[in-house]
Amino acid sequence: MTKTKSAVIILGLLAAFLADPLRAAEPLVPIQLPPPETTGGMPLMQALKNRMSTKEFAPRAISQDQISNLLWAAFGINRPESGKRTAATAVDCQDIEIYVVFEKAAYVYEAKGHRLIPVVNRDVRSLAATQGYAKAAPINLVYVSDFGKMADSFKGKRESYAAFHAGAISQNVYLYCASAGLGAVVRDSVDREGLKDALNLKEDQMIVMGQSVGYAADH
Ligand SMILES: Cc1cc2nc3c(=O)[nH]c(=O)nc-3n(C[C@H](O)[C@H](O)[C@H](O)COP(=O)(O)O)c2cc1C
Repeated sequence: MTKTKSAVIILGLLAAFLADPLRAAEPLVPIQLPPPETTGGMPLMQALKNRMSTKEFAPRAISQDQISNLLWAAFGINRPESGKRTAATAVDCQDIEIYVVFEKAAYVYEAKGHRLIPVVNRDVRSLAATQGYAKAAPINLVYVSDFGKMADSFKGKRESYAAFHAGAISQNVYLYCASAGLGAVVRDSVDREGLKDALNLKEDQMIVMGQSVGYAADH
């Protein structure tokens, strides 16, 4: 084979590699979130007055400080001495894991270290949000219950406990968003089967609900 022919083949292979959407992207690293601001904010009664679902988002990013506050409010550790959290769970089982879906990657929130652990290095928004307006949100939270963290005695109640826990967390998110001038909407519209696969979830992890967060579109 001539040198020119080999060069053409190598360039062709390189072009095919670069064009392959399934090509492994750069490995992701954990993101240490800044400490949350746990004082201040809007008075609770005013936040309750403002709580609402937003169904149109502006194409505007939210800051890392806001993500930090949002996740802490959602289900962060508010009593470090016991490791207990901002939402109640049955026997403190803390089964809910919050997956955070960004445009190009998805992470899972680790409350203990207050950081984001990478899960998948690709765009899974169309699975986390099957409605067009929600895909446009800068972040989509996905609440996943790990039944492995529940006691055997919870059998028969696991789904209802998971829904109850995710409901409490999603209300924390709604209230934080109302206080911070952000929009949010809790959603059933998640491709659970496809997302379970994409996030490499185990058989006993159940996707409960999604919640989109971002700035509401101006009108
Ligand atoms: C369990 C549940 C599932 C929901 N699923 C969706 C959904 O899939 N898509 C959507 O656009 N809104 C969804 N919503 C948001 C509701 O449409 C919204 O909460 C309702 O219209 C009341 O509006 P409000 O939250 O502003 O009070 C859901 C809300 C709940 C509580």
